Amino acid sequence: PALDEILNLHDFEAIARQVMSEKAWAYYSSAADDEITNRENHAAYHRVWFRPRILRDVTKVDWSTTILGQRSSMPVYITATALGKLGHPDGELNLTRAAAKHGVIQMIPTLASCSFDEIIDAAQPGQVQFFQLYVNKDRNITKRIVQHAEQRGIKGLFITVDAPQLGRREKDMRMKFEAEDPSEVSKAGSGGVDRSQGAARAISSFIDPGLKWCDLDWFKSITKMPLILKGVQCWEDALQAYDLGLTGVVLSNHGGRQLDFARSGLEVLVEVVDKLKEKRGLMFPNEKFQLFVDGGVRRATDVLKAVALGATAVGVGRPFLYAFSAYGLEGVDKALQILQDEFEMNLRLLGAPTIKDIVSEMVDASNIHSH
Ligand code: FNR
Repeated sequence: PALDEILNLHDFEAIARQVMSEKAWAYYSSAADDEITNRENHAAYHRVWFRPRILRDVTKVDWSTTILGQRSSMPVYITATALGKLGHPDGELNLTRAAAKHGVIQMIPTLASCSFDEIIDAAQPGQVQFFQLYVNKDRNITKRIVQHAEQRGIKGLFITVDAPQLGRREKDMRMKFEAEDPSEVSKAGSGGVDRSQGAARAISSFIDPGLKWCDLDWFKSITKMPLILKGVQCWEDALQAYDLGLTGVVLSNHGGRQLDFARSGLEVLVEVVDKLKEKRGLMFPNEKFQLFVDGGVRRATDVLKAVALGATAVGVGRPFLYAFSAYGLEGVDKALQILQDEFEMNLRLLGAPTIKDIVSEMVDASNIHSH
C-alpha cells in the first residue's frame, strides 16, 4: 500500500510482515520462548487510563522536551536495534536521517550493520546521538569503542545489562543465519560467529556474562559521557544505579527478547518511582537521575502514560525497523510524523499544553501494582 494509507505504527508491522524476507522478519519480530513478555509489553499500557483536564487553553501545544539535557522534539527516542541491513540496504542510516528531520535522538547499537563512523558521519551538524554498548570480554576493545564514541560526540552511553546471554528466540533460531553480505554484521567486536542458531546467537558471542556492578567504576574512569544502564527490571537495581552515581536507567526487557515472563517496563516504572521516593526522596522526572522505558510503545498515548508516571522519555524499536523495511527512509519519516501528530492531538485532549503539564494525576494506574 501507498505510504499515505498508513495511519498508525501498527500498520507498519502488518505490511512489513508481507514484504520482508523471512529471515529478516524472524530476526526483527521474534521474542524469547513463548513471547509472553513481548505481548505483555504492549498490553500493560491497556491497564492505565487517563484523567484528562478541561478548559485549559490548548490552542498552542508543545511536546518537545530534554533527554539527558539534550533537546528532543518529543519524549521519544529511537532505541538501539541490531542488524539494520537485514531490513533495508541503507540499514541504520534510515534512522539517522529521519531522526535529523524530526529532531529526535537515535541510539546507535553496538551491533549496527553500518559502521559506527558511517552512522556518525550521516548525522547533521549538531544532531544528538546516543550509543548502546555491549561489553566485550576483552575490555581493551570496549575501552577503545567507548572512547571513540565520546570523541565522536556521543551524548549518552547506554550499557545493556539484560543480555549476559542472548534469549531463545525460536522463530529466529529456525532460520539458519547466513550473512550473504558480510556487511550485514559490522565488525563491532563480534568474531567467532556461530551461524547454526539464528542471527541473534550468531552475532552475540563476544558479550561478557561476567560483567558486574564493580565494573561500573571502571566505566566512570574511562569516559565522561552520562552512563545509563539499559535493561533494569526492579527497584533494587535502579536504586543501586542511583547510589553509584549513574545518570539513569532504562526499564526494559529488551523487547521481550531475553527473559520471558519479565515484567513490562511500565509496571517496573511504577515500583521504581515509588521506592526511590520512599528510600531517597527522589521525585520524577528529574534531571539528575532519569528513568526511561521501552517495549511495546506504539502510540503517543502510551508515551504520555509513561511520562505521567515519571519517565523522562520512552524508547521505540520495532516500529521503525518495520517502517524502513517496507518504505526506507520515507517510512521512518512517516512513523515519526504520525507520532508528532498524535502528540499534538493528545496533549490537547488531555488538557496539557506542554510535557511538564503531564502529571501523575492525569493517569489512573491503580491496576498496576507496585512491588
Ligand atoms: C533489539 N534490542 C536491542 N537492545 C540492545 O540493547 N542491543 C541490541 O543490539 C538490540 N537489538 C535489537 C534488535 C531487534 C531486532 C529488536 C526488536 C530489539 C532491544 C531494543 O533496544 C528495545 O529494548 C526493544 O526493541 C523495545 O521494544 P519494541 O519497541 O521493539 O517493542
